Amino acid sequence: MSVLASTSAAEILERCDRLATFSSLPDGLIQRVYLSKEHREVNDLVAEWMRQAGMRTWQDAAGNLCGRLEGREQGLPALLLGSHLDTVPSAGRYDGILGVLSAIAVVERIHSSGRELPFALEVVAFADEEGTRFGRALLGSRALAGTWEDEWWALEDEHGVSLRQAYLDFGLDPSRIGDAARRPEELVGYLESHIEQGPYLEDENKALGVVSSIAGARRFLITIHGRAGHSGTPYERRRDALAGASDAILAIERIARSAQLIATVGHLEVWPDAVNVIPGRVEFSLDLRGEYDSERDRIWNVIQDMLSDICRQRRLRWESVQTHSAPAASCSPRLKGVISDGIRATGDQRPMSLFSKAGHDAMAVAEITEIGMMFIRCEGGVSHHPDEHVTEDDVAKALDAFEAAVLAVVDDTPDPLDPVSPTPVG
Ligand code: GLV
Ligand code: MN
Ligand code: MN
Repeated sequence: MSVLASTSAAEILERCDRLATFSSLPDGLIQRVYLSKEHREVNDLVAEWMRQAGMRTWQDAAGNLCGRLEGREQGLPALLLGSHLDTVPSAGRYDGILGVLSAIAVVERIHSSGRELPFALEVVAFADEEGTRFGRALLGSRALAGTWEDEWWALEDEHGVSLRQAYLDFGLDPSRIGDAARRPEELVGYLESHIEQGPYLEDENKALGVVSSIAGARRFLITIHGRAGHSGTPYERRRDALAGASDAILAIERIARSAQLIATVGHLEVWPDAVNVIPGRVEFSLDLRGEYDSERDRIWNVIQDMLSDICRQRRLRWESVQTHSAPAASCSPRLKGVISDGIRATGDQRPMSLFSKAGHDAMAVAEITEIGMMFIRCEGGVSHHPDEHVTEDDVAKALDAFEAAVLAVVDDTPDPLDPVSPTPVG
């Protein structure tokens, strides 16, 4: 464990407070979305912290901020350490951000120890994990993974600005998006530390945990069509889209719960949205997650049958558009092992293994390299809320564990410059 001067847990928490001030919302509320003024401002500030930690920095073709510390020679494959700097509306100050700032501090420790590694270290501060602005999650990490889809350029934000236009306004060139993609042979692996966003570590009185896998999520926009009409219309003549949507939303919860999946309806709009008019149309979102893609997809079929039944009974019609799909991602046995070793180095000899119900950049990066994740306890499991909270003691442990995990990857990696080593790891 490093005893050299480096950014402390207390300083990392101060940095989280400072980044929380870069927000498009008033009254201390946090919202920082992709390709916004605040995105540019935090990239500039965090780049400065990366350089202080000894890294060379650049912004990639998708607006992700990258910092690199070379290994014992220039141009070696890199172990990526990352998380995101964007937020949901009315966010907490640690989701994603703590992982980025901790990774920078760990690189700083290793740099100041003078130890040369058989691979480079790179910190990636992903620009859009949450999908708040364009409704598509993981845009930053999907650009890095080379899984960008051209149809995304036409996505629009709530003001009708297309993703393509937002790139141009930010000074990025859409035609260069492929430059952000990394090749598997350039990578040693990817490690991410993140707040848990669940109560299980707290329940077990543990500061840290090792992630086994990350839920695969599918998101849909569901529209129910009825007929608007005067609120004096008798019940038997109504075709009330909101009453149908309400039945459907409660049924979704029941169905998903009994299958031990997680379903969330977090957005709903009603037309024409007047107190004395029967709702003629309702649009709502569905975020459906599970440990196994096949079970999640089976339950989506059950939900579709339920929607058809409810709509038939109420003389309504429904349709859906899928807005996001990410397969469940497993952490590799090797990187689960190094995260567990890291946690053991902090004194917890029985690291707790957790399945992540939240989505993370790691799931996109899993397409091109092996991934490992560490969770940090967050108070009450509260996240995506201003009350998100972590303790300084836990952050200090997380730094020690993450540093030890990176060094465990070193121990586990053949040295590409050592002639007796087997083939380099790609
Ligand atoms: C992101 O935090 C998600 O899980 O949707
Ligand atoms: Mn989040
Ligand atoms: Mn996150």
